[in-house]
Amino acid sequence: MPKPLSTAARIIFGFVLLAGLAGMTSAQSHAQVRLDVPYVPTPQNVVDHMLDMAKLTTDDVHVDLGSGDGRIVITAAKRGARSTGVDLNPTRVAEANENAKKAGVSDRVAFIQGDLFEIDISKADVLTMYLLQGVNLRLRPRILADLRPGSRVVSHAFTMNDWEADQHANLNGRNIYLWIVPGKAEGTWQAESGGRKFTLNLKQAFQKLTGTATIDGKSVPVTGRLTGNTIELSADFGGGATPLRGEIKDDAIAGETLRATRS
Ligand SMILES: C[S@@+](CC[C@H](N)C(=O)[O-])C[C@H]1O[C@@H](n2cnc3c(N)ncnc32)[C@H](O)[C@@H]1O
Repeated sequence: MPKPLSTAARIIFGFVLLAGLAGMTSAQSHAQVRLDVPYVPTPQNVVDHMLDMAKLTTDDVHVDLGSGDGRIVITAAKRGARSTGVDLNPTRVAEANENAKKAGVSDRVAFIQGDLFEIDISKADVLTMYLLQGVNLRLRPRILADLRPGSRVVSHAFTMNDWEADQHANLNGRNIYLWIVPGKAEGTWQAESGGRKFTLNLKQAFQKLTGTATIDGKSVPVTGRLTGNTIELSADFGGGATPLRGEIKDDAIAGETLRATRS
């Protein structure tokens, strides 16, 4: 018959067993959900303000990256949008589905259990996020490449570093940032405004534009910005700042004060 363990041996054995179990539990949960951001919900008044800033409409497709208990998705659906949330944590996804059911919007929402870095965001008119600065920066190239110009991106608390927000609000100490995905204006354009023909050479840094307008070999500086595909420039051809405005479509700009084609 095996000898009974002494009290000291039993205590040591107990500690070893507990430490092993604790290690296993943490390793298992770690393997299940390796979160890039911990769960912290956005207060409802901030959610409302985020969707106000995005000017969410009933025609919009909305996506919340890291959707938590689903509150942003559910609020968007209550406003008539079609909305999808993605969260890596299955507990959050179950909670979000339950909350959508209670709110009576299950038919207009979808919660995907998955990685926000892998989900297709190209159909989103409005993208919301409450993540972290580093996560925003990892997402930034995809946001700029995959979303159509004019899509709105709203972040609670965290910026996109040198991609400056188009709008910022502070709600009782909570920062909310809005970006409008810019179109593509960089390059050389043969332009016309008020009967004047000139060559526009534009450099683009996110939504900001700088460059030159050249007529008869003489160049003047140009500055401006993009709001989606709307281009607004200012150039001084000699008689004071001239506003130039148009819409970019494919390889052309059309507007009252600016018409151009790419060259
Ligand atoms: C700060 S909470 C925000 C929750 C919700 N969007 C809100 O504002 O109330 C971040 C959420 O992101 C989820 N998350 C973290 N890393 C993720 C990843 N790689 N893919 C998808 N979801 C992730 C977390 O589970 C958590 O629910």
